[in-house]
Amino acid sequence: MYKDNPLRQISWLDFQNLKREEKGPFFLRNGRPYHALIAQQFDRPSLERLCDLATKIRRIGKTKGGLHFLQSLLSEKRAMLYFAQPSSRTFLSFYSACQIVGLHPAEVRDTTTSSEIKGESPEDTVRTFSSYFDLIIMRHPVGGFAERIAWLLSNTDRPIPVINAGSGQDQHPTQALLDIYTLQRSFETRGGIPRKKIAFVGDLARGRTVRSLANLLTLYPGVKQYFVAPESLQIGADILENLRAAGASYELSEDFEKIIPEVDAIYMTRIQDEWDTAEESRLLDTARFHFTARHLEILKPDAVLLHPLPRRKEIAIEADQDPRAVYWRQVRNGMWVRAALMLEIFDRSSEIVKYYDDLTS
Ligand code: NCD
Repeated sequence: MYKDNPLRQISWLDFQNLKREEKGPFFLRNGRPYHALIAQQFDRPSLERLCDLATKIRRIGKTKGGLHFLQSLLSEKRAMLYFAQPSSRTFLSFYSACQIVGLHPAEVRDTTTSSEIKGESPEDTVRTFSSYFDLIIMRHPVGGFAERIAWLLSNTDRPIPVINAGSGQDQHPTQALLDIYTLQRSFETRGGIPRKKIAFVGDLARGRTVRSLANLLTLYPGVKQYFVAPESLQIGADILENLRAAGASYELSEDFEKIIPEVDAIYMTRIQDEWDTAEESRLLDTARFHFTARHLEILKPDAVLLHPLPRRKEIAIEADQDPRAVYWRQVRNGMWVRAALMLEIFDRSSEIVKYYDDLTS
């Protein structure tokens, strides 16, 4: 009876006990993402499809007529942006993506103004709010909370899709999607992402964007990942285990200068000191993990420099004007990919493909 709603067929306890890669199918319907919660739910064809859709949306949106068409696609739907953690760029990115495809966005950002302070459980709060909407886009400090909500709503009379816009220190799947799109566009004329060397630098222990992207990169053959960080901020053993299981090659390093000339992409991240328990990251020498103006000279001529933003001092502003710095383009790409994801969730992508074919034939 609930074959189109797999999360209804499993108890919360059983679901929690599944491995990450086993959870993926529970978030899909008819092969498409219904919820978007973890990087592991995406396979290579679904990534290619999202990137292709993002490009079509981007091109269609260049004209007024095209924009009106895009805005008609989900104009009967409303989305709640439930952001219980600081955010401005991801929030605005989703907000803009909603506007591109006509979805009406409403926001909940300060959860202290809700009945949660009257003792209501966060689950009850989100379930109540969900009654007004057709989609929840959620950022939450507790890892796994978006999954919990997706399971909970799937077991009510009114299931609606949930998109994870950043959960604790754990996952940020839509950031990983836009990173993949940016890498794919950057390497378009060079055989795409396969066989590229990609370095992650900074706080890899608590940077959720890195954890999600590292998983997605295992879907591309021959990619070698470098994790460059002080020992105490190195990437989690669970991610390395995933890489080994996928047969992906990787290297751990503390020698950033040695790695720079070797790689095709560098993904810089900030120190996530909001997770410090005793100001421990202040005691670290993180300056040697900064990309300085001098490093532009040793970076390969066709390499690219990425950053999920916000940036602190980890990339010198001198790099901003360099054509290899693609972090501003990354921001724009986020809008198109998130718009594509929403169309996939509501099964409206075929209309994009048809409109685009008519436009270009
Ligand atoms: C990142 C995040 O929130 O995880 N930002 C973002 O979504 N673009 C990275 C960060 O906060 O450092």
